[in-house]
Amino acid sequence: MSHLVAPSLLSADFLNLKRDVDMINNSEADWLHLDVMDGVFVPNISFGFPIMNLLKGITNKPLDVHLMIVQPEKFIDEVATMGAYMMNVHYEACTHLHRTIHGIKDKGMKAGVTLNPHTPISLLKDIIQDLDMVLLMSVNPGFGGQKFIHNTLSKLDDLKNLIVQKKSHSLIQVDGGVDLDTGKLLVDAGADVLVAGSFVFSSENPHKRIHQLKAL
Ligand code: DX5
Ligand code: ZN
Repeated sequence: MSHLVAPSLLSADFLNLKRDVDMINNSEADWLHLDVMDGVFVPNISFGFPIMNLLKGITNKPLDVHLMIVQPEKFIDEVATMGAYMMNVHYEACTHLHRTIHGIKDKGMKAGVTLNPHTPISLLKDIIQDLDMVLLMSVNPGFGGQKFIHNTLSKLDDLKNLIVQKKSHSLIQVDGGVDLDTGKLLVDAGADVLVAGSFVFSSENPHKRIHQLKAL
């Protein structure tokens, strides 16, 4: 499978969201990545269900929802109702991760688990077979435009080994500081899905940036 690209709307122009979603609709983007922050799990607040329910009505891309919130299990129904394709919850935010993952799947969504930069891959050893995707954070979550943490590449190796060893079908997604240089390193190392926010939206031609990421 060639890799997928999921632009993060966090770096879009919030006063022109429809214009930016239309740009993504007409691009080679595979998914639309939506970052939900609660000001508790991460030191920032982004947007919530009123906005995402409207976005669902104007996008033709599957919604990849990255919940940077405490107790994400409380919102499984809401995320399912808004029509999300993928629901990503943070390992660090889930006390009963197995129950949460199966709750997500029971609602017909794909289930992803996100790891912060300091969280080791080995903690997934008893859940990896149940996951549709693992999202490796390559920055500390909460803000766009941060510098890529290179240790992510060695975590990617560990994750690939675990996936093979456990015969898991999990995809590998990476989020944070992705541009053409880090994106190339990640694709060569086996990443399946690249998330990119500021690299896409800081350009005069974001459409072209998505094309360049797809072409890596
Ligand atoms: C950060 C978010 C990312 C963010 C990435 O916490 O999870 O999805 O939008 O932004 P860039 O690509 O600018 O690092
Ligand atoms: Zn994200």
